[in-house]
Amino acid sequence: LADGPLKGRHVIVTSGPTHEPIDPVRYIANRSSGAQGTALARALVALGADVTFITGPADVPPPAGVNLVRVQTARQMKEAVEAALPADAAVFAAAVADWRVASESASKIKKDGKGSLPVLEFAENPDILAGVSRMKQGRPALVVGFAAETDDVIAHATAKRARKGCDWIVANDVSPETGIMGGSENAVTLIREDGAESWPRMGKDQVANRLAQEIAEALS
Ligand code: C5P
Repeated sequence: LADGPLKGRHVIVTSGPTHEPIDPVRYIANRSSGAQGTALARALVALGADVTFITGPADVPPPAGVNLVRVQTARQMKEAVEAALPADAAVFAAAVADWRVASESASKIKKDGKGSLPVLEFAENPDILAGVSRMKQGRPALVVGFAAETDDVIAHATAKRARKGCDWIVANDVSPETGIMGGSENAVTLIREDGAESWPRMGKDQVANRLAQEIAEALS
């Protein structure tokens, strides 16, 4: 492990999308490359943290030097987070599917040849961030959520921070015209109890480095 301000600190990072199976060959998911979560984990490792990196099926390879846990579904991600606790900080960068298919079909759903359409029933997934934020015992000292918004970014993210009970929200504007989703840059606003701080648009690696620095300061 690297020497640095986070030496001896355990940080959990969730990243990537979750895949919620419909049947053995189909799933529903959010769009997420895993790039920002991966960059953040790498930056935390560089500052000396002991990082548990819990990732859904992402487009980018996981960072080196982490305790890597691969999951598919939101429920598996929640179990992995619980198994990784306790932690000094937890950062929830994953794009978790809000819903799963209520009952996964054990066999591939077939077209019946008469044009009748399958109807999927959904169930709500557990909110992993809210659950950890509201832990009565053993809550990480710092809990950070992400908010991908397409309009009124600061207002929506500030409300989300209160609703989830986390310490910070990293808000970003993912309107299609920004090109942020799947791109290499990000423009974020860091929302804390005492207000919102908008950072200039910069590379996801730079966002990660700056965020890791902020986390190190908050834990020091
Ligand atoms: O409510 P929304 O999905 O916009 O919240 C985003 C934040 O909550 C992210 O930090 C995401 O990782 C986290 N989240 C979670 N579990 C869910 C849904 C979102 O941890 N089921």
